[in-house]
Amino acid sequence: MSVDFEALAVEAESAVSTASDFAQLDAVRVRFLGKKGTITTLAETIRSLPTEERPLFGQRLNALRQAVTAAIENRKAFLEAETDAAAFAALDVSLPGNIPNVGTLHPLTQILDRAVCICRRLGFALATGPCVETEFHCFDALNTPADHPARNEQDTFYFHNGRLLRTHTSSVQVRVMEKNNPPLRIIAPGPAFRRDEIDATHSAQFHQLEGLYVNRKVSVADLKGTLDFFFRELLGTGAELRFRPHFFPFTEPSFEIDVRASGLGDRERWLEMGGCGMVDPAVFDAINKSRSDQAFDPEEWSGFAFGIGLDRLAMVLFGIPDIRFLAANDLRMLRQFAV
Ligand code: PHE
Repeated sequence: MSVDFEALAVEAESAVSTASDFAQLDAVRVRFLGKKGTITTLAETIRSLPTEERPLFGQRLNALRQAVTAAIENRKAFLEAETDAAAFAALDVSLPGNIPNVGTLHPLTQILDRAVCICRRLGFALATGPCVETEFHCFDALNTPADHPARNEQDTFYFHNGRLLRTHTSSVQVRVMEKNNPPLRIIAPGPAFRRDEIDATHSAQFHQLEGLYVNRKVSVADLKGTLDFFFRELLGTGAELRFRPHFFPFTEPSFEIDVRASGLGDRERWLEMGGCGMVDPAVFDAINKSRSDQAFDPEEWSGFAFGIGLDRLAMVLFGIPDIRFLAANDLRMLRQFAV
């Protein structure tokens, strides 16, 4: 049997090079190399050849198979390149990409992050407590008697089970002292809730940064030095602090903290930023009673505490005119403070 391998090679070559897409190319592959393809069928005829013709026939058939396989691969690569080029031709790589919508930090979170960083440098550890509190942690342990106005239904959100939305973060002071021994130094940021008449500067939910330092011989000077440092780090070295005598049931003496700084808009205006004072020994007594030990012996231990309003701070620092904007989650507002 004589086979014209050269003619077959030319035929395959021309079929491959005229295949203009992947489907046509595959049809060519099936035609020559498929189960019933020309080359496969020829291979099956080897056995019927006289023995001396087999090696040469086999060699030529193999050479043909390799040539066709290679031609198909080449053509495939060419068609792929052509497809890519067509796709890229429609693509303008100079167009701006799609910017992913990853969100940004809320202005309150930004202030909080900065505040926490500053306190960490002073050695304060981060503490947390629940927003739904017991009266004990929110009031009783903090020396706040049953007839204190803060405990009034008019001022506080109570649940039916006697629990309440904490009216301040000072409840975390109690929780920390119940579980830890002095000396200790913590900050506790978080939301607090009051039944306030809601307007541009009052919201039923606001945020505080609580601080508590307990050690031997803690003084008002320590308290002032700490808050001075804190506000100067936060607002610049030009920040000035003023401590106004005040009353809180759980500190004695107590102060309100006023701050003025050029970063706060009007350089001349004092802004009230929160409350502070020296931990009242009655609080230590209540803690000891709750723990059933004398870990916070008021004869040995003293401390200071502060609570700073974060919403107010965010409002003045970012120039946000209405406290309600902080909770409204309007993207048009939030985007202005994206970092
Ligand atoms: N808890 C007080 C308030 O919410 C602030 C405060 C905290 C005062 C710690 C003294 C010490 O007004």
